[in-house]
Amino acid sequence: MTVLALYNLKGGVGKTAAAINLAYLAAADGYKTLIWDLDPQGSSSFYLGVKSINKNETKKLFAEEIDLEDAVQSSAFKHLSVIPADISARNIDTFLSDVKHSRKKLRSLLSQVKSYDIVILDCPPGISLLHENIFNAADWILMPNIPTTLSINSFETVAEYFKNNELEKNKLKCFFSMVDHRKNLHHEVMQQFYKDKLFFKSYIPYLSDVEKMGVHQQPLFEYANSSYAAQCFRDLWHEVKKVCM
Ligand SMILES: Nc1ncnc2c1ncn2[C@@H]1O[C@H](COP(=O)(O)OP(=O)(O)OP(=O)(O)O)[C@@H](O)[C@H]1O
Ligand SMILES: [Mg+2]
Repeated sequence: MTVLALYNLKGGVGKTAAAINLAYLAAADGYKTLIWDLDPQGSSSFYLGVKSINKNETKKLFAEEIDLEDAVQSSAFKHLSVIPADISARNIDTFLSDVKHSRKKLRSLLSQVKSYDIVILDCPPGISLLHENIFNAADWILMPNIPTTLSINSFETVAEYFKNNELEKNKLKCFFSMVDHRKNLHHEVMQQFYKDKLFFKSYIPYLSDVEKMGVHQQPLFEYANSSYAAQCFRDLWHEVKKVCM
């Protein structure tokens, strides 16, 4: 089982769009794929049209009052299952601060779903105890970055955090997201950071076909399979597969 976390300290950078589209492509390639929505916003759950079965489900999963397998739901797509988020996900940090081995709780929970080839974690933004759990549980942390100053600042904060906390920096892999070709700043930042081996060559441009996932409430490939946006996510998936699988 390979655990991929779509993560950034910063919000609104394309984590969920990538989590859903990479999960879809992994499943289409025949990998038994599970996407776990850890964000109380529940955007991944929304895109897959799935809601929690149990009240306060995320909290109960972390409290081990229910098993992960009992929270797993099928999606409309072959090989793709989902653990949806609910609003109780906002309290994961409070809950974790009360448990033993609080930094490794997520990792131990994931041992319940070892039958999956790939688990994709759609993470909320931030850097808290939940995120320390994510850093420990994930084999790879895939970090979308908009090529702007603030986004790159948050990348550097995370890289520094990994260094100071003796976390494996090699797990961190970045890709550029919401790239706007009309902006010189985007080009300049990309050229500067491509020297850093942490960055994938493939990137996701700012494209309205990606934004329309909310309108269609579906992965991109279901309504724009032959679009440029779909090709960009396929290229990214090929690179992720080569490096992480
Ligand atoms: N490549 C893109 N081009 C255009 N719009 C995009 C792109 N990627 C994401 N979006 C849009 O930008 C918004 C934020 O994207 P998304 O939800 O994927 O980011 P996020 O990092 O998961 O946000 P959050 O931190 O709130 O969870 C959404 O409305 C989404 O449709
Ligand atoms: Mg999100």
